[in-house]
Amino acid sequence: MAPVVNIGQLHQHVGSSVTIEGWLYNKRSSGKIHFLQVRDGTGLVQCVVVKSAVTPEIFERSGLLTQESSCRVSGLVRQDDRAPGGYELDVEGIEIVQIAQEYPITHKEHGVDFLMDHRHLWLRVPRQRAIMRVRAEVQRAIFDFLDNRGFTRVDPPILTPSSCEDTTELFQTKYFDEEAYLTQSGQMYMEAAAMSLGRVYSFGPCFRAEKSKTRRHLIEFWMVEPEMAYVDHDENLRIQEQLVSHVVEHVLHHCEAELHTLGRDVEKLAKVPGSFPRMSYDDAIAWLRKNGFDIEWGDDFGAPHETALAGQYDQPLFIERYPTKIKAFYMQPDPLRPEVVLCADMLAPEGYGEIVGGSQRIADYELLNTRFDEHHLPRDTYAWYLDLRRYGSVPHSGFGLGLERTIAWICGLEHIREAIAFPRTLYRLYP
Ligand code: 4AD
Ligand code: MG
Repeated sequence: MAPVVNIGQLHQHVGSSVTIEGWLYNKRSSGKIHFLQVRDGTGLVQCVVVKSAVTPEIFERSGLLTQESSCRVSGLVRQDDRAPGGYELDVEGIEIVQIAQEYPITHKEHGVDFLMDHRHLWLRVPRQRAIMRVRAEVQRAIFDFLDNRGFTRVDPPILTPSSCEDTTELFQTKYFDEEAYLTQSGQMYMEAAAMSLGRVYSFGPCFRAEKSKTRRHLIEFWMVEPEMAYVDHDENLRIQEQLVSHVVEHVLHHCEAELHTLGRDVEKLAKVPGSFPRMSYDDAIAWLRKNGFDIEWGDDFGAPHETALAGQYDQPLFIERYPTKIKAFYMQPDPLRPEVVLCADMLAPEGYGEIVGGSQRIADYELLNTRFDEHHLPRDTYAWYLDLRRYGSVPHSGFGLGLERTIAWICGLEHIREAIAFPRTLYRLYP
């Protein structure tokens, strides 16, 4: 049999006979020719089986192939500019690996619930494959960026004795005789690690039992969380905009075909890299009120507010300095205005909402101690976190970038559920 190659590498084999190993995506037939569209994970190629050019067995075998049947196809690689991908295979041989019986996902339209019930199969369509490729490249870009700037990756625990964000969203579980929670964020552990290594980041799953059924919420999502010693609020924002710019540039460069498959308007993405606009929470409230929103200073933003605010710009928008009372206990108050904190949310353009949340952290022992009282945080489980403010405390900042929200935005997805292979959403744990 001719050597096995990837469909994505066919351009290196024009004029030679090769074998591809894959699955039948689609098929058209005239009496004398079968056109087999075969995919192998690296691409899709049309394989042309001409009755007069192959043995009767091979022609018959190709006729037996049904959608998603697995097969090895060998043939001569021919350049064809009309073909999707630019190449075709003139078939010389076919080996059936398995015939798929009545594959449930046809080339017709299917409802979302049906597709979600068949997520294990839905992943095979070119669109879903493209999203998973972009996801992998987004991760690679994040690691490239941070690893090249002196960050060390540190892995925080998944099982924790305490919460980091809103306590109403905790997943509780038994840890032998103790109560434990699935992590909402690795931040507090990253703060400890930053005091050892200077600049660190974590990348892992986070769990939020949010009773939110929106296009932006997952129950289990992945977050990258950089944490940096001796970095203040302003530098925190600069690092965030550089990271997000780098990710977008990397995807534009490495995922051209995938973005094309997704029908993404790449002109919009091309406008992203650079420094991002900034707006204070105060100005955001004033702008919203002027534009007919019923909102007051002290209220948190909902999706419509974020969409409207970010809709004014081509680039992500930072909203800075939120009211202290609506943000997390660990955020550093603005020294000139303690009613606001040195934090920012980065809102993606085109209605995707908050993709990054970050802040400068409280470094002062007394102040953090007071916050513990105000928020009724149990001393026993948080004692170690206070310790960080007793032994060489320094100004430090960090942020969390939600991977799936970032992917949903970059890919132009309607809903965040497509940004992860097996989404965990409200009331859905299957497959
Ligand atoms: O704003 P959040 O809650 O911030 C934190 O957890 C901080 N401790 C991070 C840090 O400073 N190290 O979450 C950060 C990001 C959000 O901006 C969003 O992109 C994503 O995580 N996120 C979610 N993504 C999908 N589904 C959810 N339910 C999400 N909740 C947060
Ligand atoms: Mg947030």
